[in-house]
Parts: sequence; structure tokens; C-alpha cells
Amino acid sequence: MYTKEQTAAWQEATRELLDRLSKGIDKQSVNSLRGVLRFHEYRYYVLNDPLIADAEYDRLYKALEKIEQQNPEIITPDSPTQRVALGLTKDFPTVQHLVPMLSLDNSYNAEDLLDFDRKVKEGAQLDEIEYCVEPKFDGGSISLIYENDMLVRAATRGDGVAGDEVTTNIRQIRSVPLSAAFSSIGIEQAEIRGEVLINKDNFSRYNESLIEEGLPPLANPRNAASGTLRLKDPKEVAKRNLEVFVYHLSFFTLKKEGATPSTLLTHANTLQLLWDLGFRSPEKEKKVFKGIAAVIDYCKEFEEKRDNLPYEIDGMVIKVNSIPLQEKLGMTSHHPRWAVAFKFKARQATTRLTGIEFQVGRTGAVTPVAKLEPVAVGGVIVSSISVHNQDYIREKDLRIGDQVLIERAGDVIPQIVKSLADVRTGNEKKITFPTKCPVCSSTLHKEEEEAVWRCINLECPAQVAERIIHFVSKDAMDIRGLGEANVRKFIELGLLKDIPGIYSLDFEKISQLEGYGKKSVDNLKAAIEGSKQQPLHRLIYALGIRYVGETTARTLAQAVHHLIDFRTLSLDQLQELEDVGTKVAESIYSFFQNGGNIALIQQLEKAGLTLLNTKKEIVTDGNLSGTTFLFTGTLTALKRSEAEELVRAQGGQILSGVSAKLNYLVAGEEAGSKLEKAKKINSIRIISESEFLQLIGK
Ligand code: IVH
Repeated sequence: MYTKEQTAAWQEATRELLDRLSKGIDKQSVNSLRGVLRFHEYRYYVLNDPLIADAEYDRLYKALEKIEQQNPEIITPDSPTQRVALGLTKDFPTVQHLVPMLSLDNSYNAEDLLDFDRKVKEGAQLDEIEYCVEPKFDGGSISLIYENDMLVRAATRGDGVAGDEVTTNIRQIRSVPLSAAFSSIGIEQAEIRGEVLINKDNFSRYNESLIEEGLPPLANPRNAASGTLRLKDPKEVAKRNLEVFVYHLSFFTLKKEGATPSTLLTHANTLQLLWDLGFRSPEKEKKVFKGIAAVIDYCKEFEEKRDNLPYEIDGMVIKVNSIPLQEKLGMTSHHPRWAVAFKFKARQATTRLTGIEFQVGRTGAVTPVAKLEPVAVGGVIVSSISVHNQDYIREKDLRIGDQVLIERAGDVIPQIVKSLADVRTGNEKKITFPTKCPVCSSTLHKEEEEAVWRCINLECPAQVAERIIHFVSKDAMDIRGLGEANVRKFIELGLLKDIPGIYSLDFEKISQLEGYGKKSVDNLKAAIEGSKQQPLHRLIYALGIRYVGETTARTLAQAVHHLIDFRTLSLDQLQELEDVGTKVAESIYSFFQNGGNIALIQQLEKAGLTLLNTKKEIVTDGNLSGTTFLFTGTLTALKRSEAEELVRAQGGQILSGVSAKLNYLVAGEEAGSKLEKAKKINSIRIISESEFLQLIGK
């Protein structure tokens, strides 16, 4: 898309515009400003290799916005400011596709591919075929129509003949160019096919936000992408960071009648052309082979790499490279004869739902867990899956005895995709939600706007156990030797009944229990004693206040001198803290207004725990101040949490994902998609664990 010289020129123009920002940029520079912004969108969203800081991009973008506001007559539909739509989408009208969007025939093994090759050779009457092989992106298919270089329409696949028009939402995706120079090769109208997807990092982030809000996570990135395209609010679409890969020029008309441009005679060249026009096509991933044997090898090779890619693929697509030959081979009513999908090992499986167990969590939430006949999916045996809440069960219409389709996408927690209602025998039983707590029998409650039923008896043994387990857990107070099994055992034996009880355990009695030698009791004693010195943020996290995760706990710890100070903070004051919204503030507020919780804190202080914000945790003048880190893969010398502590102790910051803001990626063993992504951003330094240790002087 941009040659070396052009890249240098745009970068130069960027510097020049940034310099002029303070003096003000006038409307004469509008084209240069747009060009610069398009260039950086391309660097960021298509190449994954930004050349300026996000804040610099934002400043230039705001400058363009200002000029356009003052001179509305100069706005063009493909201006970078014109992605953002103002209003909500009313509906998604049905539109006819220019050519039907067919699906692909599937193959699952080498034999199937040999079979495909045989048929192609027969149809082509050739001894050897040239194939182009590329990833099969696992998202939702779309069609993009460009007329006179402008994007005029985007539609989903629908039934293949007609789909939903989703132009406004597609315009929010910055790897889709709003205009592209098709006219440079004489094309007037073009229809391009591609796949909308959400990458794994953005997907996990989105699922985490759902879970935090108490909503069920989505089963896979594919559903997240297709669901997002149907959102009415384009601003929400923009926030989800969808991406588009294009892989097919399905239709075009020429400005002047004449021969097809020679670039369009092979599929590989078409991908190259689309790439050159600024699209994200699998230009780097595709490979051309003569003969099917090499194709088979490449498919297998790619399957190995599957988990290291930043996005999901579910197979490879093998296409006859010559377009005239494609035309000669034609299609059946369902799929082209010149292409086939090679599907990777399934990450879905069907099994039977044999029952539902209701578990009570530390906040009293009653979670239904589906019990399944054990089945292997994506390399692990799954025998139970959380089904979140009553609404979820109703929506999926789950019944006991049902055959269910389950999926485990990459490292995502397994989910039930759907029940197979068509194969019911009539003996399936509806799932009834309990009205009483399955552990303590008190009546369950549900708040109006919530989907979760809760046991509100704070003394409920299930909650007590879960609260203690959370309190001692690794990321909280990290009391080794007092794991889940021990907590449950001590509760059962009456040795432990609440959190303060941890600090008055009767070690005499414990040492009489079977399996508790002097050494293990001494270790336990030391671990409990040691936990009294844990920093305040760990204690805050350990208290298990709803919606307060580790990050919020750190923010909170910085806000007070003593834990009890929270009793005096108002809702407004709490909301002023970073990342603390209404819901979180309300939860913190009510926690510290509760007498029982205050008594708990006082007991902990009496037991000798650190409730003071003794050491200032944000080091501003450390060796690593202003430097950002991210750890990925398995570390051997340190635990990840220890390594992160070391960074923070020297003033560095830990980021949650790979972006241009990241300075160092510490790659441990078997590092996956984060490493791959970081490799694409030149400014990130990738270091090993031992280099990291050197860096921090260990
Ligand atoms: S080519 C006429 N190439 O897989 C040929 N499809 O079951 C059109 N897909 O509906 C398809 N990656 O949504 C093609 N590199 C790729 C693809 C791809 C994903 C999807 C597409 C299609 C489905 C086929």
C-alpha cells in the first residue's frame, strides 16, 4: 500500500503537522491531515505496527474534526472523522447480494484433499493444479461494495442470496478503508468478501467485562463478532475493536469495456491487489503450491500454529489459483468446485446434560452448573460447565437429558452453545430453579435488574467457606498451606468458622489430625503469621467486596491511610477514584457501612494485620518509572505475580495487553499470541526471563 518512500513522506508530514498543531492548522491542510490519519490507521489496524503514539494520533484527529466543524462544506464521506456515526441504527434492511454468497465444501483429512484434487484435475483436464492456500477465518462473513472508489454498502451473508445491510457498523471497523483506489486499475464497482472477527485479546477483555457485570460470557469470538454487527449503537461497535480480513473479489465492473486487468488473473495476485489497496487480506499468510501434496503439508503446519495466532481460525481454504480455471470449473448449487475448506480438529463436541447442581459462591450468588457425560473437546475432558443463571438456562432452553453442543474455543472456558432440541425423546426434564439456598435453606432473593438469585444469609456455610478460600488465595493474602481442601476440612471439624478465625487457629488440635506432621503445622503457622504483613491492597482484595478486583483494590489502597477510613468516604468521593463507576462505588460504600464488616476489620487489626497504607506503592522515581511491562508464557525462576511486584516496586507499570504503549514484553516458555502480536510492533522490546532479571538487577 505505501512504498518505503511514501512511508517516509507521510511520517515527515506527520511530524510537520504535529509541530504546527500549537499554532493552529487551517483548512488548506485538510487533505494532508486526512492523508496522515489514514496512513496511521493503516499502520495501526492493518499492519499492527504503529508509527506514532495514540495521543499524537488523537491530537491530529481532533484538529481535523475542528476544521470540519468550522467548514462543514469540505467534509467528504471517506474522511477519517466520518466513521463515527451520530445516531442509532434503526434497522438492518435486507439487501440482495450482487452474486450469491456460497459456502465452501469441507474436508477433514489428507484423503479428502486428494479427492478434491482429483475432481479438480478431472474438471480442468490437467495433470497438476496450482493452488493458493490461506487461513479460514472464524468470524462472520460480509460483503463490501465499492463504487467509484467509495465504500457504499456492507452486508452480512444472511441466507446467501440476501443479507442484512450493516454499512454503518462496518464503517466503525478501522481496517476497512472507507475509500480505495479501485479506479487505478479501471474498476468502477467491486464487491469484496471477507470475514469480520474479534481477536482473542479483545474477546477475553470483553468477556471479562461481561462477567464483572454479572452477565454470562460469550461462547466464542465468532458469536461476539456476529453479535456486535447487529448492535444498534455504532459507538458500541467501535468500542469492541472488530477486525476484517478480506479474501475474495467476487464481482467487478470495468469503467471501460475491455480485457480483465492482468493482476486479476490469479487469486494470489488478487489478494496482493487488495493488500495494495489498503485492505487487510491474508497476503502474508497465503502460499501458492503446485500439486496437492505441498498443500496438505502447509495445512498441517498451520494447524500447529493455530493457538499462536492473535485471532481464531478454524481451518484453511484451498483455492485453485488461476481465475480463468475457477470460472471453467464453476459451482454446484451450494459451493464453488474450485475451492475447499480444510477443517481443523473440532473444538466442539456433543454430549448429554445429566443434571444440574446449584453452587453457592462467596457473595451468595447461586450458580447452576450443568453436569455432563464426560467428553473430550479441544484436548481436555469436560464433565461440568457453568450455566450462569436462570435467564441463561431459559434462553438456551436447556433440559435435563438434553443432547448439548459444547465448545471450547482456544483458552476460553468451555460453554454450552445450544441444546439439540430436534433430537429430544420427550423424556427430558425442565430445570427448576430452587427457591431456597441449597446449603442453608434460607429463602433466595433476586434484585429486580439482576439475573442472579442470592442467598443473603451471611452465615451460610457455603458462603463462609468460599469467603475464606478467597481470602487465603494466591492473589489475595496468599496463605500457603491453607488451600481450599484444608479450609473445608477445618470448617467441617469446627476448627474454623470465619475469616478472623484463621488468626486464632488451634494448632494443638490441628497437629493431632491425621496427615499433619510438625513440619506442615509449622509451615502453616509461619504462612499465617507472614500474611499479617501483606500490603493493604491484598487485604482489600481478600475481603471479597463485590466488583473489587485486584486492580481496583490497588487504587483503593492508595486512597486511604488506614483501611477503616473508607467508612468516612462518600459515594461521590469513591466515584472520583480511577476506574470506580457507580456500581463499584455503591458496592464499596455499602460494604463499609455494614456493621458486621467493620467488626471483621477490627478483629483483623486486633490479630495484628497491616491495615495501614505503610509503604507508598506507586514509586514515581524508581529505575523503571514510566516503563511498561507485560509478562507472557511460563516463567521459571519467578512466579508471574512476583515478577509483576518487582516491576511495580521499581516504579514500572504492568499492562493488560499488547499495544503500542508497551515497552517490554517478557516472554516465558511457550509464549503464544501475545508474543506473536508484540513481534509485529517494532517499538516493543521482547526479552527473556533472564534478561528481565538482569534488567531489574536480580
Ligand atoms: S472463500 C466463493 N476464503 O468460510 C468462495 N471463505 O463455509 C467464498 N471463510 O462463508 C469463500 N475464511 O465466511 C473463503 N479465506 C477464506 C475464508 C472464508 C473464512 C468463511 C466464509 C464462508 C465460509 C465457508
